[in-house]
Amino acid sequence: MPDRLRVVVSGATGRMGRALAEMIEADDDLELLGGIGRTSYELGWATTVGFPAIEAPEEAEWLLRDCSAVIDFSSPELFRRLVASQRAHLAHCALVVGTTGLEQSDIDTLRDLAGTGPVLPAPNFSVGVNLMVALAEDAARVLGDDYDIEIVESHHRRKIDAPSGTALQLGRAAAAGRGVSLDDVRRDGRTGMAGEARLRGEIGFHAVRGGDVVGEHRVMFLGERERIELGHVAATRELFADGALRAARWLTGRSPGLYTMRDVLGLA
Ligand SMILES: NC(=O)c1ccc[n+]([C@@H]2O[C@H](COP(=O)([O-])OP(=O)(O)OC[C@H]3O[C@@H](n4cnc5c(N)ncnc54)[C@H](OP(=O)(O)O)[C@@H]3O)[C@@H](O)[C@H]2O)c1
Repeated sequence: MPDRLRVVVSGATGRMGRALAEMIEADDDLELLGGIGRTSYELGWATTVGFPAIEAPEEAEWLLRDCSAVIDFSSPELFRRLVASQRAHLAHCALVVGTTGLEQSDIDTLRDLAGTGPVLPAPNFSVGVNLMVALAEDAARVLGDDYDIEIVESHHRRKIDAPSGTALQLGRAAAAGRGVSLDDVRRDGRTGMAGEARLRGEIGFHAVRGGDVVGEHRVMFLGERERIELGHVAATRELFADGALRAARWLTGRSPGLYTMRDVLGLA
């Protein structure tokens, strides 16, 4: 029997961390070595949330020494602490990053890490969303800027970043389909009397926050005579945990480099 994949989850005390712990424990091919959290926790408490141990990043060396893959669904702050304190140990594991709201300097950090180990960041690990990203790029290429693109996303009230990382990924794909950079055509929300109508080629973003919405995304292509929409509704967060575990399996043992879900799904 092949070795089990030994996994460490960063963001262990969060909703995604707990969902991952449950799924790893239920899978005979995976072993949950432990979790990383804001602080180190008493063993008893860690066990109640499904982890054999939870350590602060600065104390996590013993967990990382023996792991095959680290899966991070935490916050930019925790991610930064993990990299700052355990960079050398992270180089020996596959690193899957689902944390959103990362800044350009964090993306640069991920690129650096990819020089020493395999790294796969994704703002959304759902297979369906990653397919939708590819479809959005194709649709934007075929339809051109006669069709206005607006992206609408909804998430639960606790989400802190807006627009969502997935909405931006969809926007970047649509911009790439049109051969432009998203930074040059992005428009966040619309309010008041801006003094001019919608600019040709703009890609608009609208974020809805409330309740317990797991995640919904809609890309609208609005033409003069027709309207095309791509939509995705996430029903449970296990969807993302499942995709992250699929990514971790695929990534473990690969050469150093920066990979995407497109690589995992063969969509590249
Ligand atoms: N890529 C995807 O497919 C995908 C899907 C779902 C969610 N996400 C992203 O994954 C991340 C986690 O989501 P979630 O729903 O599990 O969030 P959550 O329930 O709020 O959990 C966040 C985790 O990060 C820790 N944390 C938060 N702020 C911190 C800080 N300032 N310093 C240190 N630790 C901190 C929390 O520790 P405490 O418990 O101590 O607060 C907890 O362990 C978010 O960025 C979310 O947008 C990505």
